[in-house]
This record gives sequence, structure tokens and C-alpha cells, in this order.
Amino acid sequence: MQNTRRVALVTGASSGIGAEFARRLVRQGFELILVARRREQLDALARELGGAETLAADLTLEEDLARVEARIASAPDLELLVNNAGFGTKGRFWETPLDAQERMHRLHVMATLRLTRAALAGMVPRGRGGVINVSSVAGFGQSPGNVSYCATKAWMTSFTEGLDLELRGTGSPVRVQALCPGFTVTEFHDTMGMRREGIPAWLWMRAEDVVDQSLRGLEREKPIVVPGAIYKMVVTLERLVPRWLRSASVVRATRHAHRSKAA
Ligand SMILES: NC(=O)c1ccc[n+]([C@@H]2O[C@H](COP(=O)([O-])OP(=O)(O)OC[C@H]3O[C@@H](n4cnc5c(N)ncnc54)[C@H](OP(=O)(O)O)[C@@H]3O)[C@@H](O)[C@H]2O)c1
Repeated sequence: MQNTRRVALVTGASSGIGAEFARRLVRQGFELILVARRREQLDALARELGGAETLAADLTLEEDLARVEARIASAPDLELLVNNAGFGTKGRFWETPLDAQERMHRLHVMATLRLTRAALAGMVPRGRGGVINVSSVAGFGQSPGNVSYCATKAWMTSFTEGLDLELRGTGSPVRVQALCPGFTVTEFHDTMGMRREGIPAWLWMRAEDVVDQSLRGLEREKPIVVPGAIYKMVVTLERLVPRWLRSASVVRATRHAHRSKAA
């Protein structure tokens, strides 16, 4: 008899985009494994969903990361991994605490690398499954005050694109996706201490719509999903405008802001 269980593991499921992935996947019939640091939020979501396994883990800590890796390796029905846990910082690279930058690299880069490896090691031989890496439109460019964030998200997108080529090149039906949202209303900006009012209302997206476009993109086997017409346009422009011109305008705008602040 064919096994019909479908299991999905979502990191950063205690709020925002991750919690929305969990809600949507349960409706699609997935059994869920929810991962984040805040146990109470995970348990509350599991109750809301009518049951889910919860794994409280700080993915920047080796011991916790290894525990989640082992859970993935022991899940023969794992059909979807969503590497969504992430955070932002603000401030110039050399002026802000190194610790936060290091943790960001561990979370966005090392946790994504390790959990994706653990998932694909089972999915590829089984010939089914998928991985969604929640990156950002920020990964398509560079912005002062956001250097490590842009760099780690660029890594996530590039890593996913590379994996997509490897998988397709070997004829594997396993799919990977880099989801690259723009401004989305979640706890993200509260956590980094940034006021949402500074960003025009029309630039904000709902987590529901971001997740919707990601899952539709997965069905259509799209390796990169940029939700929202505005952000698709932003990314197209980023790709069309030469790098030197983009860099020159960023430097000019930053100097102008710096001088106005100093005046
Ligand atoms: N919101 C946006 O505008 C936006 C735009 C582009 C991309 N993104 C990306 O979307 C993803 C989800 O963010 P969000 O917007 O939904 O923000 P959010 O509401 O702040 O959610 C972030 C999630 O990551 C978890 N997390 C943070 N550090 C962790 C750690 N060390 N170990 C395990 N889990 C950790 C948090 O849970 P705990 O605190 O409970 O650990 C939370 O569940 C992130 O990767 C972010 O970079 C967001």
C-alpha cells in the first residue's frame, strides 16, 4: 500500500511568514513539524492547527541545529522543508555588534545549508519533495546599513539557484525555490526596532499573499519567486541597471543622507 503521509518542516514558524506557511500547509493536508525558539508560540500555533509536532530550537546553536538536522534525517515522509527563520539588523557593519552579524550568518547561511543537505539526502533517493528557502529581494542588491542581511540573502538565492541546476541536471523531480519577498507585515521590523510608518503603505505585502505565491510557484516549479508586481519590477530594474550605476547612486544618496543628518 502506498504511504500517503506528507510531512513538512517549517523553521521560524512561531510568527509571520513561517506561521502562515504552517496554516496553509495544514490545509493542504501536510502533517507539520514546527521549529523556532519561542516554545509557547509554537504550542499555541500547534493547538490552532489542530495538532503539530513542535521543536523548540535556536538554529544558531550547534546542538539545537544538529537536533533539527537529525529530526529531518529521521523523517522518511518529509516532503517539504521551509527554511524561513531569519532576522534583520540595522546600522553600519563596523559600528554594530559583531555577535548579531555572526548569528545572522549562522542562521541564514549555515542552518539553511545544513538543513537543506539533511532534507535532500532523503528526498533525492526517494524521488519526491521540495525545499523553500525564504530569501529576500534585498539579496538582489546591496544597501548601506543592511550589509550582512543583503549578503546572506544573496547567498541563499544563489545557493538555491545552484541546487536547482544540479537537481534538474540529474533529472531529479525534487524542486527547490528561493522565495524573495519585499516588505511584508510580520514581527520582522518590530524585532529589528524599525518603524513601519517610514515605509509607504503601498510597498507592504501580507504574509498570506507571499505564501500563496510561493506555493503556487512551487507547483509551477519556479526556482525563484518574487511576490508582488512592484517587487518583480524592482528586481527586473536591479538586473537591467549596470552595477556601477547602481553603486554610484547608492553612494550619492547615502552621502546626502549623512550630510543632512550632520547639518
Ligand atoms: N518581513 C519582511 O519584510 C521580510 C522581507 C523579506 C524577507 N523576509 C524573510 O522572511 C523570513 C521570515 O521572517 P518574518 O518576516 O516572518 O519575520 P518574523 O515574524 O520576525 O519571523 C521570524 C521567525 O524566525 C524565527 N527565528 C529567529 N531567529 C531564530 C533562531 N535563532 N532560531 C530559530 N528560529 C529563529 C522567529 O522565531 P523565534 O523568535 O521564536 O525563534 C520567527 O518565527 C526571514 O528569513 C526574513 O529574512 C522578511
